[in-house]
Formats: sequence, C-alpha cells, structure tokens
Amino acid sequence: MQAGACTACELYRHATQTVFGEGPITASVVLLGEQPGDHEDRAGRPFVGPAGAVLDRALADAQLDRRAIYVSNVVKHFKFVRSGKVRLHQKPNAAELRACRPWWEAELAAIQPHVVCCLGATAAQAVLGSRVRVTRDRGRFVPLPFGPMATVTIHPSAVLRADDRHRTVLYDGLVADLSAVAAHVSDT
Ligand code: URA
Repeated sequence: MQAGACTACELYRHATQTVFGEGPITASVVLLGEQPGDHEDRAGRPFVGPAGAVLDRALADAQLDRRAIYVSNVVKHFKFVRSGKVRLHQKPNAAELRACRPWWEAELAAIQPHVVCCLGATAAQAVLGSRVRVTRDRGRFVPLPFGPMATVTIHPSAVLRADDRHRTVLYDGLVADLSAVAAHVSDT
C-alpha cells in the first residue's frame, strides 16, 4: 500500500511503521483518532493499546460493534520524543496534519460512511476546521462537503488521564456520544 511508503512529512523517519485504518469497507461509521500511540506503532494497528481498551468498552456500552466500524487516525505515524526507555506522544503539527490529509480523505472516499466520529480535538479540527470545540460541539451532527455527517467526542485517552473524580463522567460522556452515533446510523 502506498501509505506504507509515505514520506510526505518527517514522521516516517522515527516511527516503526505506517498505521493505516482497519475495518470493513462497508462500514457505516468511521472513527478517527489523532495518531497511533506506542502500542499501535509496534502492532501496526489503530487503537490496540490502553486508549483502544477504553474505546472498545465504550463502543460495547454504546451498542456499537467495533468489527462493523472502520477505525483510523488523521495522522498515520507515531510522533514521539524519547524519555529514557519510554516514547512520549507529541501532538502533530499543522504541516504533518496537512501531509496526512489525503490518506484519511481517501479512506472516507472509499468507505463512504454515514457518520464520521472524530475522537478528540486534533481529529475534530483536522476534519471540521480550527473553530470546532469538542466540549461545545460534541453530540452535534454536521454534513461534510463530501457526503457523510461528522460529529465529535472526547479522545478515549482523556478518560485514562482523568483523576478518579472525573473519570466516570468523562467515560459516560464518551458512551453517550457514541450512543448518539449508533442512533444516527440506525435512523439512516
Ligand atoms: N490514540 C489515537 O489517537 N489513535 C490510536 O490509534 C491510538 C491512540
């Protein structure tokens, strides 16, 4: 696959591999995260690490079957800095997001889902523009110029980062937003 050899930005130099999306071509829902994390970079698959575990649980609680969903990221290489033995996630910059845009646009063009759900601010802003705000705009559905409806929710890693007091509220909000996605596709 061409994305596997992509050198459109510098991120390929240090990442283990390109992590492309996965799921059925017939999916009516596409989930877009930010970029592969440490686990995903090693495995070559999206959302298979701790954030993926939160996502899997939230999808099940929202009555969505991950096997019927296409899961991907707006950036296909892991961006990190080393700190001793750990590789710490770094946010992709505007040029990196721009360089990767043709890949997720091609994924959406091939799949033609009913709904694209952006997980977190980076994916939301990549798809819907810099003015979108997850806390204000979550749960709303807006049409994209190229067909599907788009909606936004928090990134599952926000649940992992939250303290005990906020974790349940954040998780329940994620499930509520994913349940709205489930309701939306069942209506179409
Ligand atoms: N975070 C993301 O945004 N995507 C992944 O695939 C894993 C963690």
